[in-house]
Amino acid sequence: MKTKQLKVKTDGLLTKKELNHAVETLSAGELVAFPTETVYGLGADATNSLAILKIYQAKGRPSDNPLIAHVGSFNQLKRLVKYVPTYVEELIHHFSPGPITYILKHNHVCSNKVTAGLDTIAVRIPSHPVALQLLKACEFPVAAPSANLSGKPSPTSAKHVLKDLAGKIPLIIDAGNTGVGLESTVLDCTGDLPVILRDGSITREMIEKVLNVTLKQSEQLTIKTPKSPGLKYKHYAPAIPLILIQGNKEKIRTEILAYQALGKKVGILLSDQTAMKLDLKSNFRLGQTIEEIASNLYDGLRSFENMDYDVIIAESFEKKELGIAVMDRLTRAATKII
Ligand code: TXA
Ligand code: MG
Repeated sequence: MKTKQLKVKTDGLLTKKELNHAVETLSAGELVAFPTETVYGLGADATNSLAILKIYQAKGRPSDNPLIAHVGSFNQLKRLVKYVPTYVEELIHHFSPGPITYILKHNHVCSNKVTAGLDTIAVRIPSHPVALQLLKACEFPVAAPSANLSGKPSPTSAKHVLKDLAGKIPLIIDAGNTGVGLESTVLDCTGDLPVILRDGSITREMIEKVLNVTLKQSEQLTIKTPKSPGLKYKHYAPAIPLILIQGNKEKIRTEILAYQALGKKVGILLSDQTAMKLDLKSNFRLGQTIEEIASNLYDGLRSFENMDYDVIIAESFEKKELGIAVMDRLTRAATKII
């Protein structure tokens, strides 16, 4: 299969003809990769089981890991779920469209292949203008996981999507780099208060502030059957070992030298400040602020795969605000933490 690319200018939208083509492809039960503000998604009509099966096939995703249904408006969201708790309405008012996903009891509108047979569904209204344009034009919700091969870092550019899925999907909408760079915050909203199942750029503090509550710490990572099935899989794993260095930054230099002494080609993933402080050349510029670091992280992880590096040494970041999500992804990607 040849993968067709529709290129959208930065801050641009699809032309009417392009939009029709994308909607028709989805309506025909085919897959379309599209940009969101977090990462690229691999979309299919969420009401069409055969189309959803194609997502699992193309990604090599375990079938017990449910997908997020993407919609273009609150009205579209309401059509997929039994009810919307008041606190979810409040969160939607503040954060949606945006990088946040709500898990709610579903009403069987979407295929049970989307929900992997659970009685809940994950729903998100993305804020990327092209995603919104597409979703508003579809008469159905669009199920979309991140558009990477299962186990690889999520794609933050069309190039990443093509590396993983070229020839396996008919269409990709290329709108350049995504902004946030990490997947959406996932919130279990089936209880009296939300529980964070996956950290993202909408942080615990932001949610607590809006709802004026203190949220329970999620125990997802320690319980045997996690509420978010995806959490039991090793996610975001680059193809080569990743050593995550905590504490004293001098340890970074020691590790790098140790690997180099063994003749290993070392990929170095540091913030600009740390690279400068240690007088080390990071082979990939993560940037300065935690926002830049989040945005560039997956590109960094992927960049080393192509150039026969033996090992990646990565710096740790302070676990506060967006740093919590960055550290969550780095910890999952790590083969060793020292
Ligand atoms: O930013 C994002 O969320 C991106 C873009 C494309 O929207 N999507 C994304 O999808 O990251 P995916 O499939 O890679 O991650 C969805 C996560 C998985 O960990 C999955 O297990 C969880 O959400 N999930 C989906 N439905 C669920 C449900 N009903 N209950 C609990 N967890 C669920
Ligand atoms: Mg994913």
